[in-house]
Amino acid sequence: MQQVSQDVTWHQASVSSEQRQQLNGHRSVLLWYTGLSGSGKSTIANAVDVKLHQLGVHGYVLDGDNVRHGLNGDLGFNDQDRVENIRRISEVANLMVDAGLVVSTAFISPFIQDRAQARQLLGERFIEVFVDTPLSVCEQRDPKGLYQKARAGEIKHFTGIDSAYEAPVTPEVHLKTDLFCIEQCAQQVVDVLVAKQVISQSSL
Ligand code: ADX
Repeated sequence: MQQVSQDVTWHQASVSSEQRQQLNGHRSVLLWYTGLSGSGKSTIANAVDVKLHQLGVHGYVLDGDNVRHGLNGDLGFNDQDRVENIRRISEVANLMVDAGLVVSTAFISPFIQDRAQARQLLGERFIEVFVDTPLSVCEQRDPKGLYQKARAGEIKHFTGIDSAYEAPVTPEVHLKTDLFCIEQCAQQVVDVLVAKQVISQSSL
């Protein structure tokens, strides 16, 4: 990563994050979904986003596959590129949270260290959501046929096959997708947002 130039100074925004949250009528946080490919991160994040939208909450989902088409189109899947992928996403998500949104990021984000850095950047506004789906289930689902390719050696460094996934130890939300359906998982996330007073009980 490049050092910030000495000639660059921070400019304080005229409208504060608190004022934006007040205008929206809810707090802004980052829901950081992590889990294997095919675990259901994007599906659940979008299901939560629909619920939030219906409740009048301003949200947005940043999705791994989509962001890799644009902003992170120059990055691959070796460890170094994954670290950079998550660093950029953390910074973008931080700005979007600052803008007053309930942001959801749906990336494998396989390394504990990178997620810890995102947590450090966001502080109390970081909510880790572990989409805990066993590898065997993801492999059986194989929605994009990628596990099959990885097993055949056609894709290298595939998470869970020949690249590591470090599961969260104490996530704020732990979703067992082999026990609960998408709707139930999404509701569990919304319940945590209410419990943490991100959204108020009265908006339900
Ligand atoms: S991360 O590890 O850097 O967080 P990210 O979430 O952006 O990954 O992208 C994961 C998606 O890229 C997977 O859902 C899958 O569709 C695709 N993909 C392509 N190659 C790989 C690979 N080698 N390992 C994991 N996912 C891959």
